[in-house]
Order: sequence, then structure tokens, then C-alpha cells
Amino acid sequence: MIEYKLAAPGDVHRIREFLEKVWYATYSGMMPDEVIRKAVDKWFDIHFLAQQSSDPEVFFLLAMEAGEIIGLTTARMLDNENTLNLGRLYVHPQYQGKGLGSILLAKALNSFRDYQKIRLGVIQGNHQAISFYQRKGFIQTGRETEDIDGYPIVVLIMEINS
Ligand SMILES: CC(C)(COP(=O)(O)OP(=O)(O)OC[C@H]1O[C@@H](n2cnc3c(N)ncnc32)[C@H](O)[C@@H]1OP(=O)(O)O)[C@@H](O)C(=O)NCCC(=O)NCCS
Repeated sequence: MIEYKLAAPGDVHRIREFLEKVWYATYSGMMPDEVIRKAVDKWFDIHFLAQQSSDPEVFFLLAMEAGEIIGLTTARMLDNENTLNLGRLYVHPQYQGKGLGSILLAKALNSFRDYQKIRLGVIQGNHQAISFYQRKGFIQTGRETEDIDGYPIVVLIMEINS
């Protein structure tokens, strides 16, 4: 049975392990492993995850089965904008395509009110995620380039009006 719980600081090492696993499964072949390692270190820093998991303004939800994390999402309102930012949405490879990503997305969206827009970033070339968001109605509105030690990672910005 899948259970949902808000992330707590005590979960951060498991969260980091989970994110690392999903990142390698998703991006190996799309970018060098060394870049994946550096990106994971930068974006999933343990202290940052701990801070987010205790920030009341951040919705940080874990999907668990038999005590293991099988999915997670992170969302927050952007300052001075009526925009909800979907920071993360990850499902364990063995659980993808079974509706869990859709459930986590719905839970994130339902936990906030009064936003006019939802925004997220997705790495160019991640076709599975891009088509998932397109099927949900998101459209690309921009692109940004993140620098990982000289290696450019292109992030597509996608948005939907609520
Ligand atoms: C992108 C991602 C979050 C989507 O999550 P998911 O759990 O695989 O997606 P879902 O199963 O909810 O939806 C995928 C499709 O499977 C279908 N599906 C298959 N079996 C299903 C079932 N038993 N119940 C419901 N839907 C099912 C859905 O209909 C859906 O199609 P739709 O979008 O046309 O409705 C997930 O694939 C993932 O974590 N990818 C790797 C990490 C990543 O790229 N994250 C995004 C970074 S921005």
C-alpha cells in the first residue's frame, strides 16, 4: 500500500539516495556520469534538503511503500507572483507509468490556493517528463541554461494557467 507523508529533516539521507538513483536512471546516456554526480551534489545538497523539509512554505511530500521512498514532489509559491513553482517531481523507475506521478502532481497542486499559474523546469531531452507535462497541459514558455562546472544543462521552462 502506498502511503504519503510530508518530508521531515530525519528523511533527508533517504531522500538524497532516492534522488540520486532516479537521476542516474533518467539522465545516464543523456549527460556524462560526472555531470550527473556534480548536479546531484549541487541541487540535492543535504543541508538544502533539510532546510526545505522544515520550511512550512515548502510542500515536500514523499510517497512510501514498505518503508521505502518510491516518489516525491516539492512545491512552493514564488515570491511576489501568483505562481506555484513545482520544484521536483520524481517517481522510482519501477513505479513509473502507473499513475503515481499524476497523483503526486495533483497533491502538490491541491495543497496551495489562489495561484494563477504553475511553473516548472525540465531538462531538455527528458522526453518522458516533457510529454508527461504536455499531456497535463503545460506548454514551454522559456529556457534557461544551468552551468555545472562548465557543462551546460538546458532547462525548459513550462507553465500552465490554473
Ligand atoms: C515524469 C514522471 C514524474 C511521471 O510520473 P509517472 O508516475 O511515470 O506518470 P503517470 O504514471 O502518472 O503518468 C504517465 C502515464 O501513464 C499512464 N498510466 C499507466 N498506467 C496507469 C495506471 N495504472 N494508473 C494511472 N495512469 C496510468 C497515465 O495515463 C499517464 O498517461 P497520461 O499522462 O496520458 O494520463 C516520472 O516518469 C519520473 O519520475 N521520471 C523520471 C524523473 C523525472 O524526469 N522527473 C521530472 C523532472 S522535471
